[in-house]
Amino acid sequence: MKKIGIASDHGGYNLKEEIKKHLQGEFEIVDFGTDSLDSVDYPDYGVKVAEAVKSGEVEEGILCCGTGIGISLAANKVPGIRCAVVSDTFSAKMSKAHNNANMISIGERVVGKGLALEIIDSWINTEFEGDRHQRRVSKITEIEKKYSK
Ligand code: RB5
Repeated sequence: MKKIGIASDHGGYNLKEEIKKHLQGEFEIVDFGTDSLDSVDYPDYGVKVAEAVKSGEVEEGILCCGTGIGISLAANKVPGIRCAVVSDTFSAKMSKAHNNANMISIGERVVGKGLALEIIDSWINTEFEGDRHQRRVSKITEIEKKYSK
């Protein structure tokens, strides 16, 4: 069973719980918090899932915050992470097919629950197409290496 990491701050907590319910049974879900609506700092949660994806503890990661933006910015600081902030199903699908996004981020204050779950399904059920897209993704990795020295 594919292992998926998930986390949110308080702004994405309710959506995180909905996504967990939606994926349970089909995927093994590892929840990295937060565990309540109490105010927390989104970078603390974005980095947990990003590091778990990087280490191979989980295969892919899902993040939620108010907009999906802050928590994705934190995740994208971890080398090898490609976390796409997505608000529609077409972008969700393409973020995997063309960009090989290994994480996705959704804003609970932006996207309704029904659409959010469809976004997750679009992303999780799409395969990376490789080929010319691999060349482009590799160029992203080269940029990352250049500034990691
Ligand atoms: C928290 O109020 C909010 O700033 C956070 O959830 C997120 O939207 C940041 O990008």
